Amino acid sequence: MNDSSAPLVLGIETSCDETGVGIVRGHTLLADAVASSVEEHARFGGVVPEVASRAHLEAMVPTLERACETAGIALSDVDAVAVTSGPGLAGALLVGVAAAKALALGLEKPLYGVNHLAAHVAVDQLEHGPLPDPCLAMLVSGGHSSLLRVDDVTSSVTPLGATIDDAAGEAFDKVARLLGLPFPGGPHIDRAARSGSSVAIDFPRGLSSRRDLERHRFDFSFSGLKTAVARWVQAREAAGEPVPVADVAASFQEAVCDVLTRKAVDAAVSAGIEDILVGGGVAANSRLRVLTEERAARHGIRVRVPRPGLCTDNGAMVAALGAEMVARGRTPSSLDLPADSSLPVTEVLAG
Ligand code: KG4
Ligand code: ZN
Repeated sequence: MNDSSAPLVLGIETSCDETGVGIVRGHTLLADAVASSVEEHARFGGVVPEVASRAHLEAMVPTLERACETAGIALSDVDAVAVTSGPGLAGALLVGVAAAKALALGLEKPLYGVNHLAAHVAVDQLEHGPLPDPCLAMLVSGGHSSLLRVDDVTSSVTPLGATIDDAAGEAFDKVARLLGLPFPGGPHIDRAARSGSSVAIDFPRGLSSRRDLERHRFDFSFSGLKTAVARWVQAREAAGEPVPVADVAASFQEAVCDVLTRKAVDAAVSAGIEDILVGGGVAANSRLRVLTEERAARHGIRVRVPRPGLCTDNGAMVAALGAEMVARGRTPSSLDLPADSSLPVTEVLAG
């Protein structure tokens, strides 16, 4: 189908602290309006669910208006509405799902309740065209760290591994806090690491021993790493010595990226998959990008990473997955679609 004749799909994302409204036609992105409540959470060092829900409620209508204005469309032009129905923060999801239902009902258009993780994968189509299938998705953000086999982003997503404790982004945020860097910490660690040495401190690589690999070959664990960094920093402070922030940041970042890329490439190679797609906020990490490319290339594997603005949570990703649902003729969700904070990744299109 030519994009100019493809249906106009509006996507709403409210699973965490970003209120996103995206508008796409086929694989063409027309608008991607995002309002973030991240600054309201900064002093707490993490997202406060109640604060996020209220912020979504306040930002929803202005963000919708901004998206329509940017796309140069009226709401009545929209052919289908897509919304993240999970996983995410329950109260935050409810705001987006309620708004999407109101729109679908008022406009008399189909509603697609989609999985947030699959949307992180689908968004890449807006930038790099149709997804190769199968592909191996490495999704790394403040809320999730997973390796997924994607045979069809609208119907067949299989989890291969996930974190058993902290998400990768959460580890970046917690370590940043230890180092006195602002929230969210990922970008600050990334920047500090550039002037540090990645081999200065030998931090542990979670779930990488031979024994762990037997049971958790494609799973991650970052909480031991976070504790190791905390102990190292405390020992320095107790000895009255300055903490070399750049070296700690670089060595910590290397430990995270080493495990993520090693396991992603191993998963792709063992499944005979030739394309790795990286998504989620941590995909913006400069070292992660370089190391993934480097290790994948050794096995002839291609790597796709959407631009940073599309890696973090946004409405365009939801619209992109919604557009794919429409293109593949999937049955829309019913208007009593629930918000499911623990929606399994295998459920790409909810009720
Ligand atoms: O996908 P996202 O916007 O929201 C969810 O958590 O779903 O991801 C935000 C996370 C935060 O933990 C943030 O610290 C991390 O992505 N992040 C980074 C970088 N930019 C954002 N982590 C490492 N390096 C970065 N450059
Ligand atoms: Zn996300």
